Amino acid sequence: MDDLSRLEDDITARIDAAADIRALEEVRVSALGKKGLVSERMKTLGRMTPEERKEAGPRLNSLKQRVGEKIGARKAVLETEALARQLEEEAVDVTLPVALPPRGRIHPVTRVFEEVEAIFAAMGFEVREGPDVEDDFHNFTALNFPEGHPAREMHDTFFFEPKDDGSRMLLRTHTSPVQVRTMLKEKPPIRIIAPGRTFRCDSDQTHTPMFHQVEGLVIDKNTNMGHLKGTLEAFLKAFFEVDEVKTRFRPHFFPFTEPSAEMDVGYARDGERIEIGTGGDWMEILGCGMVHPNVLTACGLDPEEYQGFAFGVGVDRLAMLKYGIPDLRDFFAADTRWIEHYGFKPGE
Ligand code: PHE
Repeated sequence: MDDLSRLEDDITARIDAAADIRALEEVRVSALGKKGLVSERMKTLGRMTPEERKEAGPRLNSLKQRVGEKIGARKAVLETEALARQLEEEAVDVTLPVALPPRGRIHPVTRVFEEVEAIFAAMGFEVREGPDVEDDFHNFTALNFPEGHPAREMHDTFFFEPKDDGSRMLLRTHTSPVQVRTMLKEKPPIRIIAPGRTFRCDSDQTHTPMFHQVEGLVIDKNTNMGHLKGTLEAFLKAFFEVDEVKTRFRPHFFPFTEPSAEMDVGYARDGERIEIGTGGDWMEILGCGMVHPNVLTACGLDPEEYQGFAFGVGVDRLAMLKYGIPDLRDFFAADTRWIEHYGFKPGE
């Protein structure tokens, strides 16, 4: 094997060994570059005799050409491999779910329900629910509304068409029927809240035909109004995130509680903002009282053995107060700009 063949073998081996495009480029420069091995040989042609040159010239030229072709071929292989590797590394599994940023908002009412449930759950209350479509017994009769009593009319009830037997189903006017359903099913001690929709035929800036309440009910042997007040104050402090709340009971009438009261909470007005807690003004916030003995009896509990308290809070009102929302009707207008503004991002 002569010198040129050895040189070609050597360069070929290095071309084949080049692991990537950059290594191959180094081989190319060292062989065919200006000062490369093949170029250096080319320069020796000038010093040769014409006979020598006649023989060596074509050999060198064809060597140069072959080396160039081998480099080109190796380059094509390396590029194909690099592309295959890149495609593999950057492969996208199109069957994976696309993580789009969530665009929906949690409605302030939903948010307040969640907050109220969390606060009462921490105090040992369980959640109970009842149907939106109720019968007269659960919405009125068992709650000590006398037959034909004007209190039934006070509720602006949505009635359905009478059935064959003359009875009429209705949209519940409050969450209090869940008190009845719970007492009929469960033995005391009872400690529940009942969140849900309620309906009254009424509509203005502070009333909508559908609204939301949370009912509370505690039945045990010695439960009294002190417990009621303590429970409600603890709730209000947690809900409005304040250290102090001033509250007062104002005597009121509900057929299903005796005594009955409305609870007012102290607040201060700071321009547009309302700060619940202390302050010089009073705001009515909920209805409550001790469960009427007639209600206990209607629900199969002996009023000589059991007693307890109940309360009902307007959830929409709580949301307006906590989050500074001015008009109740906007809650249910399904305006996306409103929900973008007042709604909550999931996890917020
Ligand atoms: N159900 C009453 C209402 O809707 C509120 C209430 C509940 C009052 C429980 C007392 C006890 O107005």
